[in-house]
Amino acid sequence: MTIKARVRGVGGYVPEKILSNDDLAAIMDTSDAWIVSRSGIRQRHQADAELNVSDLAVRAAKKALEHAGMSIAEIDLIVVATSTPDHTFPATAAYVQHKLGSTHGAAFDIQVACSGFVYGLSVVSAMIESGQAKGALLIGAELMTRLLDWEDRSTAVLFGDGAGALVLCADDVAPDAPQVINSYIRSDGQFAKLLYTTGGAGSTGTAGTIYMEGREVYRHAVTNIAEAICTLLDTSGFEIDDIDWFVPHQANKRIIDGVARKIGLPPEKTVLTVADHANTSAASIPLALDMAVRDGRIKPGDMVMTEAMGGGLSWGANLIRWS
Ligand code: ACO
Repeated sequence: MTIKARVRGVGGYVPEKILSNDDLAAIMDTSDAWIVSRSGIRQRHQADAELNVSDLAVRAAKKALEHAGMSIAEIDLIVVATSTPDHTFPATAAYVQHKLGSTHGAAFDIQVACSGFVYGLSVVSAMIESGQAKGALLIGAELMTRLLDWEDRSTAVLFGDGAGALVLCADDVAPDAPQVINSYIRSDGQFAKLLYTTGGAGSTGTAGTIYMEGREVYRHAVTNIAEAICTLLDTSGFEIDDIDWFVPHQANKRIIDGVARKIGLPPEKTVLTVADHANTSAASIPLALDMAVRDGRIKPGDMVMTEAMGGGLSWGANLIRWS
């Protein structure tokens, strides 16, 4: 038996307000047909101005705790993956901890753009396996619509707001029991210029807006993500056919389809939310997990493969046997 991280609950939250492609076509030179054909996106959610990202994170976290049947008292680690923190410091996780009524344990943010959830699961699992945490909340939460240049139609149509959360607990498990099996994370900063925000607290003093060389990002995405999945399967002793559910970062349906084709995964095993949520960056994977667990697709014992690529460039994947 070995101490591993086990998923105990999942929750998601998207703001009520919806912006359809037609809504965007009313304010910029674009069309529903162009957006759907290039990205698979039909709409995105947008938070009202009074909500901070910690508010979205708390809503998702509460649902995940309820799903787990656990109280905040049992959580000794809160990690928030976000590129849109409430403030430059303290960590948004500190606000989340307070809003959830906790005064114990550790709370910190990680910022790896769209790969934040995949990196977060790698970090949280390792902390649980090493005995540094027993009960963890991993939350991906983003207000991506606040990082957009609404004059730039090539990025403004691609992103949305939302949050998703996982509750993970330490468990003494046999090799074939539910657990986070393994993760693979990579980065290559020489490609940072392909996808970044034009500002930062330590440079311009503002958050900036998203700049992306779409075609180049697309080219790297399919190759890097396929490499991450194949390496992770290989090092963990599994094969493509062992995957029951493919839960990718929901950036773009064409990237997701391209990866699935390249690694030989049948489309019916893919969980897709990109049409309804657009790209919610670090929130997209836990939001998709939440949907597929609640609609009964992902069941206990199922093998789940996640993946993401984003600014950095950063990329990675997680292999989970679901609880
Ligand atoms: N509506 C209408 N026309 C548009 C729009 C728009 N919203 N945006 C760009 N166009 C136009 C361009 O101006 C260009 O016109 P031109 O030929 O007259 O110059 C034309 O469409 C083609 O532009 P491209 O940028 O070459 O379009 P492309 O087919 O590459 O699609 C896209 C753009 C969707 C961004 C694509 O490159 C892509 O999928 N990239 C992947 C990047 C991605 O999804 N990133 C998300 C963040 S990173 C991540 O999470 C992986």
